[in-house]
Amino acid sequence: MRISADYFLLEKLRAHHSETYYHSLRVSNLCLQISRYLGWQYRDSFLVWRSGQLHDIGKIYVPHQLLSFPGPLEREQYERVKSHVTLGAELLKRYRVNVEIVQAVIGHHEREDGSGYPNGRLDQTELSKLLAVCDVFDAMTEVRAYRKAVKPMDVIGVTPTF
Ligand SMILES: [Fe+2]
Repeated sequence: MRISADYFLLEKLRAHHSETYYHSLRVSNLCLQISRYLGWQYRDSFLVWRSGQLHDIGKIYVPHQLLSFPGPLEREQYERVKSHVTLGAELLKRYRVNVEIVQAVIGHHEREDGSGYPNGRLDQTELSKLLAVCDVFDAMTEVRAYRKAVKPMDVIGVTPTF
């Protein structure tokens, strides 16, 4: 168990870009809740919870002003932001984080139609699929400098009946 390494890395993220840190905690919590709802084994729930916390850890290598840029990014800037996936995975490998967590982190921006990054391949694990969904949900329901937040029920396409 290397929870102390997780904590150390998360504190680095909080110091660098607190919005990403709190986003990671929300994604992590959502991953845990949905995995329990789906009846995943405790071990997998635990792994996806940790994956949620660490999925954007590579953003500590992306300049703060780029992470908070209030508008669409130039191509070069966007490539720099996208590099957080591979940089984060390399960092986690150096800390000998569980390989399933590293795979989930590598796959969290991949998409089922192959349009994602960094590989544009359909090589997502179950952990990275759930992580990707929770990541998008949180990103869409969050206020950004250039757009309003989408209501949670609108994101999932459900009309509340309560
Ligand atoms: Fe990400």
